[in-house]
Formats: sequence, C-alpha cells, structure tokens
Amino acid sequence: MILVTGGAGFIGSNFVLDWCAQNNEAVINLDKLTYAGNLENLATLKDNPRHIFTHGDIGDTPLVSKLLAEHRPRAIVNFAAESHVDRSIHGPEDFIQTNIVSTFHLLEAVRAYWLALDAAEKSAFRFLHVSTDEVYGSLAKNDPAFSETHRYEPNSPYSASKAASDHLVRAYHHTYGLPVLTTNCSNNYGPYHFPEKLIPLMIVNALAGKPLPVYGDGQQIRDWLYVKDHCSAIRCVLAKGKLGEVYNIGGWNEKANLDIVHTVCGLLDELQPRPNGKSYREQIIFVTDRPGHDRRYAIDARKIERELGWKPVETFETGIRKTIQWYLHNQQWVRHVQSGDYRKWVEKNYAERV
Ligand code: NAD
Ligand code: DAU
Repeated sequence: MILVTGGAGFIGSNFVLDWCAQNNEAVINLDKLTYAGNLENLATLKDNPRHIFTHGDIGDTPLVSKLLAEHRPRAIVNFAAESHVDRSIHGPEDFIQTNIVSTFHLLEAVRAYWLALDAAEKSAFRFLHVSTDEVYGSLAKNDPAFSETHRYEPNSPYSASKAASDHLVRAYHHTYGLPVLTTNCSNNYGPYHFPEKLIPLMIVNALAGKPLPVYGDGQQIRDWLYVKDHCSAIRCVLAKGKLGEVYNIGGWNEKANLDIVHTVCGLLDELQPRPNGKSYREQIIFVTDRPGHDRRYAIDARKIERELGWKPVETFETGIRKTIQWYLHNQQWVRHVQSGDYRKWVEKNYAERV
C-alpha cells in the first residue's frame, strides 16, 4: 500500500479518488483536516476497504511512526501543506509550521522507517514530495519557462516555505540516501477546488451574483493544468522517476487572470445564463493587488515528457468546461464549504481591497 498525506484537500483527494479507481493497491490517507481538508471530497470511498483515513498531523512523529509500522507502505506521496498565497500573507506562521517544521518531522519519521526496511523493500521505497512552480519566483514577459535547473527565488511566505521543504527533501536524499522524488507543478484547477482560489472563487461568486474581484490589472500570467493531469503525472513519476530527481509538471497553458475570468463568465453565460440575460462579465471588478504579486509563471514540462513519457490529456478548453459543469452539478458541496470560517476569510481578504 501507499501513504498519502493531505489526501482530503483539493489535489490530494483527486489523487486518492483516481488511485482507488485505477488499481487495487490500498491507500492510507493522513490528513489534519484544516479548513482546506474535506471528507466530503472522499464520500464515494466511504465503504471502500482500500481507503484508510487517519485524522492527524504529518508533524506528529508518534502517530506517523505508528502508521508506518502498522501498514508498511511502499511509498509516500506528500501533498500536505498550507497552500494559499493570500493566507500566507495574512498569517505566515501556519505555513512555516506545516510546510517546513512538520515536513521535517515527517522526513525524520520516514527516514527511521526506511532504514529499518530489508534491502529489497529499502530499494523499492519512494518518498514523493509534491511542490510548486512558485518556488522559482516570477518571470518577465519574454523569459523562458521554468526548467528544473532554474534557481529558487520564492517571493511569498507560502512559496518560501515550500522552497524550504524542497531543500529539506533534497538534503535527505543527498545526506541520508532517502529515495526521494520531487515534483514542481503549475496552477491546478478542477473538481473539489476550494473556492478561495481564483477559478472556483469566480464560479461561485458569479453564480451567487457577487462581484468577481480581479487583483491589480489582471494581467498576471499563470500556467493552468487540469488536476487529473497533475495526478497522472504524479503516478508516472512515482512509477518511473529517477531517484533524487526533480520533475516540473505543467499544462503549456499560459493565461492572464483577466482572460481566465472572461472564459469562466462566457461558459457560465452558455451553461447557466443569468435570469436578466446579461453576461456575468458585468460582475467583474478590479481590486487592490496582492502584495508582492508574482507577474508570470510558466513551466517547461519537456523533461517529464522526454524521460518519462508523460503529457497532459486535457486542453484548457476541455478542462475548464468540465470544471464549470462539476460546480454546477455539485452546488451542495459548494454550500457546505462556504461555512462560517469561509465567510470570515472572504471578509478578511476582500474587505480591505478597494
Ligand atoms: P489544499 O490546501 O487544498 O489541501 C491541503 C491538504 O493538506 C488539506 O486537506 C489539509 O487538511 C492538509 N494538511 C494541511 N496541513 C497538514 C498537516 N500538518 N498534516 C496533515 N495534513 C495537513 O492544497 P492543494 O491545492 O490540494 O495542494 C496540495 C499540494 O500540492 C500542496 O503541497 C501544494 O503546495 C501543492 N501544489 C498545489 C498547486 C495548486 O494549484 N493547488 C499547484 C502545485 C503544487
Ligand atoms: O503555481 C502553483 C500555485 O498555484 C500553487 O502552489 C498554490 O498552492 C495555488 O494556490 C496557486 O497559487 P496562485 O496564487 O497562483 O493561485 P490563486 O488561485 O490564489 O491566484 C491565481 C491568480 O489569480 C493570482 O495571480 C492571483 C489572482 N487572483 C486570485 C484571487 C483569489 C485574483 O485576481 N483574484 C482573486 O480573488
């Protein structure tokens, strides 16, 4: 079996659902269930004996050691993290704690477990660390896309904490020989995306008749990848990746934020027209920019294609249509995640933006 951390969050739950649908190997899912963790994402696995959920922190060494000893996983996929840039600006401490300190404790527990394995299990074992393109910093308009050798220049408390975790993972390979793999992926979108992030926020606000808040001039560029493609890339790296290597994952889909918001509005106009017949675009407003806002990310995903044969399946056009249809068909999920805590976050993040 494998151990997945953070498997009740956006990407982790998509990964666990796909994993259980595609093979017979069991998954232990360790998740702290922060505001971003949601067991409703895993509701279809309720009676599946191959999914074992454990509520807990990756930094809880006794718990992690017990899980490892009991289940003896052959691999770990580490999704657990604080993941939202705006939250890291309002309160960086949780990011330092989970993304750095708890990741360190996880590595220590895994190292002790790995050292005690027999030779065959030891050489087959993998620790795959899921990271982000944001560790590379910001690109100018005509710069080449981020390759795996691009230097680290993180600009937010979130990306700095992810960069630190990448360095720890690297050091555990270099110093102790822990068999690690690291992936650095671009912006994901798709089902179960928490509506604090751009695409789901725009969908749920549009449908609720609320403003669609675009930061600054809306010309910041992100490279979008459908979440199921990210999950297939992780499975591919886990199966075929070379130990100690880094693989960048991206969708070759660079888009300006304002274009994304226009695309979302256009699809909603088609799939769920407003009662007054006007476009959702009327709800777009420009608000105060994110401090330290990175201007452009772009991933050069040639290495994973060349060496491991992975390519995304979805184009942005097919993926965004599926995503919007998912939100239209899952309004109950949307209502449930918009709890009191969610409303408090929206108030905090947007009230001060003019
Ligand atoms: P998310 O915020 O939706 O989910 C994170 C999950 O981790 C939640 O279920 C949360 O409860 C859990 N968690 C948080 N702290 C924990 C702890 N200390 N112990 C155990 N569980 C804990 O995040 P996501 O968008 O699904 O991102 C998953 C991973 O992928 C993160 O490491 C993130 O940096 C990385 N990533 C995200 C994107 C993206 O576009 N969302 C892109 C590239 C990389
Ligand atoms: O690049 C990968 C990263 O993508 C991941 O590592 C992060 O975990 C993930 O959250 C995401 O980070 P971003 O900051 O790029 O995503 P977010 O959805 O928060 O914002 C996308 C862009 O949209 C960014 O330029 C800020 C802008 N934005 C965002 C929100 C929430 C707005 O214009 N308005 C908004 O209300």
